[in-house]
Amino acid sequence: MDVLDAIRSFQPCTQFDSRPIPPEQLRNVLAAARLSPSQQNLQPWRFVVVQDDERRRRLAQAISRGGKLVLEAPVAIVAFAVEEDIPVTVGGYISAYPLDVAVAVHSLELAATAEGLGTHWLVDFNEEKVRQVLGVAEGIHPIAILPIGYPLHPNNGSSPPPEGRKSPDEIIAYDAYPW
Ligand SMILES: Cc1cc2nc3c(=O)[nH]c(=O)nc-3n(C[C@H](O)[C@H](O)[C@H](O)COP(=O)(O)O)c2cc1C
Repeated sequence: MDVLDAIRSFQPCTQFDSRPIPPEQLRNVLAAARLSPSQQNLQPWRFVVVQDDERRRRLAQAISRGGKLVLEAPVAIVAFAVEEDIPVTVGGYISAYPLDVAVAVHSLELAATAEGLGTHWLVDFNEEKVRQVLGVAEGIHPIAILPIGYPLHPNNGSSPPPEGRKSPDEIIAYDAYPW
């Protein structure tokens, strides 16, 4: 599957099969995150792969919407940003680290799509609870929780592009900002 096919067929997975993920596939999707670009190549991300049932159960309790996906999927990957790695700002006004981690997370999601796996990016978690469940130190921020596994209803890469997206005219302009 090429990158455009993966982008077109990517859909957040809403129901997971509990089948385990073969270790090689898991390594491939984690490699996509590891190889991602970041500002000044600081690579401010860390990924915790949560496979243990009890730990996933406790992690699910830290999520207010979408926790059931963490219970269903055989694995949850939690992406963190390391604050000390990230002195960079965007245009001098916002911290850049969520961008770096987001780039890596979606690379991972596209690699998962190419492997026939599903993911669902969750942000509706309680940071303090996630910290407690995984033993995370201060200054390390969870950015995304990603249940990952085989979709219960795979689309085999043949689904139409996602619906509900704005038209090109609404979001793309040339030479000046018209909106
Ligand atoms: C940064 C980001 C955060 C998201 N957080 C959540 C979330 O907390 N809970 C959830 O159910 N879906 C979450 N999603 C999934 C989006 O809701 C989903 O991609 C969007 O509704 C488009 O869905 P569609 O591709 O099926 O049209 C998130 C997606 C992104 C990119």
